[in-house]
Amino acid sequence: MGVEDGGREVATTIENVAIIFGVTGLVGKELARRLISTQKWKVYGVARRNPDQIFSSIKSCTNDFSFISCDLLDPVETQQKLALLEDVTHVFWVTWASKYVFDMRKCCEQNKSMMSNALNAILPTAKSLKHVSLQTGMKHYVSLQGPFDENKVRFYDEDCPRVSSGINFYYVLEDLLHERLSSKVAWSVHRPGLLIGSSRKTLYNFMGSLCVYAAICKRENLPFVFGGTRECWEDLCIDGSDVRLVAEQQIWAATNYDIQSSDGQSFNAINGSNFTWKEIWPSIGNKFGLELPSKKNMMLFSQDFRYAKAMSDKKQVWREIVLKEGLVPTEMEDLANWEFMDVLFRCPVKMLGSREKADRFGFEMRYNTLDSILYWIDFMKDEKLIP
Ligand SMILES: NC(=O)c1ccc[n+]([C@@H]2O[C@H](COP(=O)([O-])OP(=O)(O)OC[C@H]3O[C@@H](n4cnc5c(N)ncnc54)[C@H](OP(=O)(O)O)[C@@H]3O)[C@@H](O)[C@H]2O)c1
Repeated sequence: MGVEDGGREVATTIENVAIIFGVTGLVGKELARRLISTQKWKVYGVARRNPDQIFSSIKSCTNDFSFISCDLLDPVETQQKLALLEDVTHVFWVTWASKYVFDMRKCCEQNKSMMSNALNAILPTAKSLKHVSLQTGMKHYVSLQGPFDENKVRFYDEDCPRVSSGINFYYVLEDLLHERLSSKVAWSVHRPGLLIGSSRKTLYNFMGSLCVYAAICKRENLPFVFGGTRECWEDLCIDGSDVRLVAEQQIWAATNYDIQSSDGQSFNAINGSNFTWKEIWPSIGNKFGLELPSKKNMMLFSQDFRYAKAMSDKKQVWREIVLKEGLVPTEMEDLANWEFMDVLFRCPVKMLGSREKADRFGFEMRYNTLDSILYWIDFMKDEKLIP
C-alpha cells in the first residue's frame, strides 16, 4: 500500500526500479514497453534527445515512466541528473557512443567514459541495486581486421576466448563491470546478432535501411536487388536477433536470481533459426509488393551493386514518399544507413552463435528470422514510418 488516491490508499504493485540507458534505441524502447506493461516496474529512461511519440503514449497511460535527458559522455551532467536516483534496482545498458569506428581506440575510450560516468553516479546511491545488464554483440567473437578463414563455419558459444587481434570496446565494458561490480552486484552480458526492430535513433539500423530501400525501389520501379558477396547471399553468415527477444532475455536474466553470478553471466541473444539471404529475400520483396528481378530475368543478387552508390541521389525521392504517404517526417538518413548495408552484405567473416547456453538455462523465447522481419515491417507501417 502506498499511493494516495483522493485520500484513499491504493495498492501499489511496483517491485523493481529500472534505469534504461539508451531508452530511445532499438532495444531500449522495447525494454521500456515490456517493463511498464507488467505494472511491476518503475522505469527511468535515459538518452540525449527528447523521446518520440511512443513515450508520449507511455506517459499518458502510466506515472511509472520518467524520461531523463542526459549526455552520458558529460560527467558533470550525468552526476547531476542521476545521482539522486536512490531507488534503482536494475540497470540496463543498451547504448553506445558511436562517434568513432567500432574498433578504434577512441571508441573504446568514449564507451568506457560513458559507462564510468553512469556507474559513478548510480553506484554510491542505489543501495538496493540487484543487477546490471549489458548489451554488446556477436562481434565479441570476431575481429573485422582479420585474419579470415573464409571456409570455416563455426557457432560461437559464450566460452569462446576473446579475439587477440584488434580492439574491441565490448571487452572494455565487460572488464569495467567486472572491476566495479564483482562480488557485490550480479551482472550479465547479452550478445545479439543483427538487431531486428524499429527505431529512428539507431546508427546501424537494418530494418530502417531495408524498408527505405524497398520503398524507393517501389516508387522508382527499380529491381529489389541484394547487393553483396556470393558468400553472404548463399551461406549462413549472421544471426537475426528480434528486439523483443533481446529485451525479454535481458529481463529474464535480470530477475532470475538462480542463474545470476556476481562474476557476470554471458548469453548469446539470437533468434535461434538459421537463414540465408538467398532463402528469405524473395519473401521480403513479396511483402513489399515488389516485382522481383528474377521475374524479369535479372539476378536477384549482384556483386557489383552498392547501396551507398545506388541510393546517393535518392534523398528527394524519400522526401516525396514521406509527403505523399503522410508519413512521420524523416530524412532518408534518419532511418537508412547505406554504408552499413554495404558492410553487412559484404562482411568477410561469419558471425554465428550458439543458443545452447540460453536454452539450457531455460530461456525459451525463439523467433524465425523471416517472421521477425515481416513482423517489424508491419510494425513500422503501423507507426507510419514507412509506406
Ligand atoms: N544495431 C545493431 O544491429 C546491433 C547488433 C548487435 C549489437 N549491437 C550493439 O548493441 C549496443 C547498443 O546498440 P544499438 O544499435 O542497440 O543502440 P541504438 O539503437 O543506436 O540506441 C542508442 C541509444 O543510446 C542513446 N545514446 C547514444 N549516445 C548517448 C549519450 N552520449 N548519452 C546518452 N544516451 C546516448 C541514443 O539516444 P540519443 O542519441 O538521443 O542520445 C539511443 O537511445 C552496442 O554495443 C551495439 O554495438 C547493435
